[in-house]
Amino acid sequence: MKKLIPSYIRIPVIFFSVGAAMEYFIDSGDRPAFIKYPMILLFLGVFLFLLIAIEIVNKAVDNVTYHLLTEEQKEKLKQAQNLSFRDSEWYKSLMHKLTRTVPIDKENQLLLDHDYDGIKELDNTLPPWWVYLFYITIVFAGIYLFRFHFAGADDQEMELQKEMAQAKIEIAEYMKTAPDMMDEKSVTLLTDKPSLAEGKTIFDTNCAACHRADGGGTIGPNLTDDHWILGGGIKNVFHTIMNGGRDSKGMISWKGTLKPKEMQKVASYILSLQGTNPKDAKVAEGEIWAEKVTTKIDSTNIKSDSLKTKN
Ligand code: HEC
Repeated sequence: MKKLIPSYIRIPVIFFSVGAAMEYFIDSGDRPAFIKYPMILLFLGVFLFLLIAIEIVNKAVDNVTYHLLTEEQKEKLKQAQNLSFRDSEWYKSLMHKLTRTVPIDKENQLLLDHDYDGIKELDNTLPPWWVYLFYITIVFAGIYLFRFHFAGADDQEMELQKEMAQAKIEIAEYMKTAPDMMDEKSVTLLTDKPSLAEGKTIFDTNCAACHRADGGGTIGPNLTDDHWILGGGIKNVFHTIMNGGRDSKGMISWKGTLKPKEMQKVASYILSLQGTNPKDAKVAEGEIWAEKVTTKIDSTNIKSDSLKTKN
């Protein structure tokens, strides 16, 4: 074996495997472990030094013993070293253990007296590698049967359900910390001046054409009264802006144009217009909306059940 892999390959392979293993098992955040912990660098240095030292010592011992050998022994050693891997004793005995083949010259001992038009049959033993594989499948089946039919381990469907549940939790976690990923469940009303000012800018550029600069309404409904077609309150207003109004009424979904943060700001701005009562505002449409309705709202149906228009 020694001859098969020369030392200039063996040393780097061992060295880098150990280095990679340390990198894998030692938690060092985003920096490589050997930079975060200089001790590791020291350890690897000593390790490399030892590897090289062992190789040198080995070589020296081999040299010395070689000189002590008799001519006959030297000849034998040479022969053994010159054998290819497949000719080596070790490989041959392993192969024999796995296959239990009978050499061709002894095949007549196995010959059965079956003769099919000149085709003869040998009574070979089943190769052990195959037989053991078969035993392993039996054991596997036993364990499988017990685990999934008696011990009640999760089947694929259960695994999927659990993963989906876990994913939902993770999404909720993510939504909490990522402000740009807001949805109607996590949106909150902003009241600070800078946000409302930004909301006004967004409103003036995108929405004023239909809702009028003061929110009094033209094509779109009056946004300053307490009547809402699609539900009031920050969550419903956000939902309307994000998903648009009823089909063919003219209020498009803005999620392609505005970022969630911007929708939050413009929604907050609209709500800050409540009760401003601009001149010549459009007559109220929809129903009076009171905050307590929010308790009825669940994630699947954000709009409250009052879609009737009451003029
Ligand atoms: C093309 C005209 C148009 C534009 C532009 C427009 N809207 Fe609308 N908007 C409408 C119409 C029409 C409705 C009524 C939808 C319905 O009845 O389903 C509406 C409804 C709404 C509602 C719900 C009102 C209620 O009573 O429930 C909100 C909130 C709203 N718009 C906000 C906005 C915001 C914010 C913008 C800008 C980002 C905007 N709209 C841009 C036409 C428009």
